[in-house]
Amino acid sequence: METIIAPSLLAADAGFWGQEIREVADEGIVCLHLDIMDGRFVPNLTFGPGPVAMLRKYTDMEFDAHLMVVEPERLIPAFVAAKVDSITVHSEACLHLHRTLEMIREQGVKAGVAINPATPVELLEPVLPFLDRVLVMTVNPGFGGQKAILPVLKKVRWLKAKKQEEDLDFQIQADGGVNQQNIGEFLAAGVENLVIGSALFQPGKTRDNIKAFQRLISAFEG
Ligand code: DX5
Ligand code: ZN
Repeated sequence: METIIAPSLLAADAGFWGQEIREVADEGIVCLHLDIMDGRFVPNLTFGPGPVAMLRKYTDMEFDAHLMVVEPERLIPAFVAAKVDSITVHSEACLHLHRTLEMIREQGVKAGVAINPATPVELLEPVLPFLDRVLVMTVNPGFGGQKAILPVLKKVRWLKAKKQEEDLDFQIQADGGVNQQNIGEFLAAGVENLVIGSALFQPGKTRDNIKAFQRLISAFEG
């Protein structure tokens, strides 16, 4: 299986995070998506570097921090100290995007950039060589459990073509509204890392959901 599933911890029962992380690791998950919201860039608030550092002791899997915050450059050192493996900032939140990406990479962490559904992907063209990941938001950030805006997947096709044309090696990630019914559309567009929240973490069903997603991905990849 080449496509990676990155469970979004936001959808898991916070009272059982340690247990949930062990469970998904047992099912072969290698990347955990951490949604960091500041109540300003998005209307919702989640958690900061403190809880992330605490979670680190439960697993060695990749911690993928998705910063939905204004002025993300201020928070980069704290998330690096919390031992995340990658930091994704929103292009809409960065005045000097290239500088912020450099700052992330200089600290030995993978650098990603996320774009909201209404943001044109072409604006990322100049920074593509400086990226380890591009996150195409298929919902407006702020909340789990929303319906995917599928026409946005056109941006994934554009990124896939650019990657091939220019021999770049960033990973294409999509986030928001992925479920067992529409996963095929994400895979067909060329998504390499799928963030899945509410359709994955469900009390008593998490393991079965992961297995079902893995089967769908394997069937697609043939
Ligand atoms: C939305 C977050 C997502 C979201 C995914 O702002 O970035 O990671 O929680 O959850 P689902 O899969 O429920 O859309
Ligand atoms: Zn996210």
